[in-house]
Amino acid sequence: MPPPPEALITDRLVLRRPAMSDAPAVYEYGRDPDVTRYLIFPTHRSVADAENFLATCPARWESGEEHCWLITLRDDRRVIGSFACRPRGHAIDIGYALGRPHWRRGYATEAGQAVVAWAAGLPEVYRIWAVCDVENTASARVLEKLGMTREGILRRWIVHPNISPEPRDSYVYARVR
Ligand SMILES: CC(C)(COP(=O)(O)OP(=O)(O)OC[C@H]1O[C@@H](n2cnc3c(N)ncnc32)[C@H](O)[C@@H]1OP(=O)(O)O)[C@@H](O)C(=O)NCCC(=O)NCCS
Repeated sequence: MPPPPEALITDRLVLRRPAMSDAPAVYEYGRDPDVTRYLIFPTHRSVADAENFLATCPARWESGEEHCWLITLRDDRRVIGSFACRPRGHAIDIGYALGRPHWRRGYATEAGQAVVAWAAGLPEVYRIWAVCDVENTASARVLEKLGMTREGILRRWIVHPNISPEPRDSYVYARVR
């Protein structure tokens, strides 16, 4: 697979690679329990948690394990969230989060459309997919708006540590060609 784009530009957003200087902005949403409720990392307790995350991004990008962009507003360049994708052979899965003040403005859908358009244009990719907690109505709706179909429930699939240490059920969504 060719290296993913360093930046993706939409009408209102720029998705770009993170820098260490983004730590305070990442902490701003990473510290919010409403944002992290259905995410796999513990709610950030200090800006050091954001720094630790950002410090791991370059190696994961280079190895292909995970490509993470920050979602920024085109207008004022503010960081409002993140969008990640993980290529594995012929499949790519996606994940995302936005700071609470930026919910329900279509930003996740807009960012997702750019990532899906890029991924769907790769000849080796047949499956673009994601999982979301069965209670995460907002994320399920985003995935539907990205043209994905709910394929089923993966029972006891993933731990969302901010809810409980027990693995929880996830919906699995995909679009394929
Ligand atoms: C999930 C999340 C990224 C959605 O972002 P968003 O920018 O608010 O989503 P959009 O504005 O693009 O909305 C997409 C659709 O979801 C709907 N939606 C958004 N939030 C919703 C909510 N809380 N409840 C019900 N529907 C919701 C929107 O109405 C829209 O559907 P519509 O066009 O039919 O009205 C955001 O809620 C978030 O960051 N949550 C915390 C992190 C998270 O759960 N990430 C996903 C992990 S799988």
